[in-house]
Amino acid sequence: MSTKKELRIGLIGTGFMGRTHSNGYNRVPNFFPDLEYTPVLKAVCSRNATKVQAFADQWGYESIETDWKAVIARDDIDAIDICTPNDSHAEIAIAAAKAGKMILCEKPLARTVAEAQQMVDAVNEAGVANTVWYNYRRIPAVSLAKQIIDSGKLGKIFHYRANFLQDWTISADVPQGGAGTWRMDVEAAGSGVTGDLLAHCIDTAMWLNGAIKDVSAVTETFVKERFHQGTGKVEPVGIDDACIFHCHFENGSLGLFESTRYARGHKALYTLEINGEHASIRWDLHDLNRLEYFDHADESIVRGWRSIHVTDGDQPYMDKWWVPGLGIGYEHSFIHQVADFLKSLETGTPCSPNFQDSLETQKVCEAVLDSASSRSWKDTGVEEFTQ
Ligand SMILES: NC(=O)c1ccc[n+]([C@@H]2O[C@H](COP(=O)([O-])OP(=O)(O)OC[C@H]3O[C@@H](n4cnc5c(N)ncnc54)[C@H](O)[C@@H]3O)[C@@H](O)[C@H]2O)c1
Repeated sequence: MSTKKELRIGLIGTGFMGRTHSNGYNRVPNFFPDLEYTPVLKAVCSRNATKVQAFADQWGYESIETDWKAVIARDDIDAIDICTPNDSHAEIAIAAAKAGKMILCEKPLARTVAEAQQMVDAVNEAGVANTVWYNYRRIPAVSLAKQIIDSGKLGKIFHYRANFLQDWTISADVPQGGAGTWRMDVEAAGSGVTGDLLAHCIDTAMWLNGAIKDVSAVTETFVKERFHQGTGKVEPVGIDDACIFHCHFENGSLGLFESTRYARGHKALYTLEINGEHASIRWDLHDLNRLEYFDHADESIVRGWRSIHVTDGDQPYMDKWWVPGLGIGYEHSFIHQVADFLKSLETGTPCSPNFQDSLETQKVCEAVLDSASSRSWKDTGVEEFTQ
């Protein structure tokens, strides 16, 4: 008989993220055995009963629902995990908070700052624990970058650079709206690459390098009309297919960000680089166990970019996995997020990024889109970002 405290999960949405989160809940007890809390997969919800039952059987959920309101109404659920498209995040989260449930919400927190603010108000009023799945922070090499930067090894920071490149929407035949292509529909997604991909880059950037003060952006929609699976008609496309912006960080450094779904050959190339007075750091999602590091203090005859294989037990999270030298993958970032959320319940500290932190990321996204449409610099309104 387990003596662990239970965190009874109600998961809403059984697509890509529903799978990564379910894997996270299932794996945590094996690899983080010292946590006080353990997740219990109480209920899973999506609208098709046959499909959601198959998902429940595959991942080990005790029961199913086909209406998210029914999950929130249940007394045997402590935490609502929102894995649905962006247009439902606010409604579900606000209802969950009102019902006193903890909330783990997928990113972007919402479609707009106004929606995100209502979500922050709702969790604050209810006093419920909350977190947003900006999971890239929890890749050990990225967490190590944070440790190195915070230790001061880079000195004064001059530049932050990030790209998130894909190529899956180049064909004009890709529809908008509906299952699989809701990201192409501005109503469902809120925006294109800015909210979908740059939101990740912005969250990591502000975590590593502090608040982004102001932005100047360009966006482009290369395919102007697409068939809409909801209306059955060819409709104008409202999302940004590509976005490039530059910015000032609060610490005086300059940022340069690019994201597109039109970079032929790139499927999910997230890279970041940060250049300081004494040292630089570089990371690439396609080689996620490695962190590249250049230290000008090295003796000149051996000075050069080091490729750190982040697999040693004293590097972030790696004492929980195999033996030094053996790598882990994308899915582990979600396992780490579950573990960190459970730990936060144990310690009574917020699990960052929480809704408030992610509201700040939303402000930057919105300033980027405003800047592109007005062709002018925009202040983000982000005062500080520490979490
Ligand atoms: N953290 C990350 O790296 C990451 C990666 C991908 C997606 N996301 C985010 O996760 C969320 C979901 O994305 P996805 O790729 O899993 O989408 P998906 O299309 O694969 O899955 C969405 C799921 O939500 C269900 N759904 C939709 N409306 C619903 C409703 N009203 N009630 C119940 N179920 C409903 C669908 O049936 C489907 O199961 C989005 O907010 C997205 O931005 C985050």
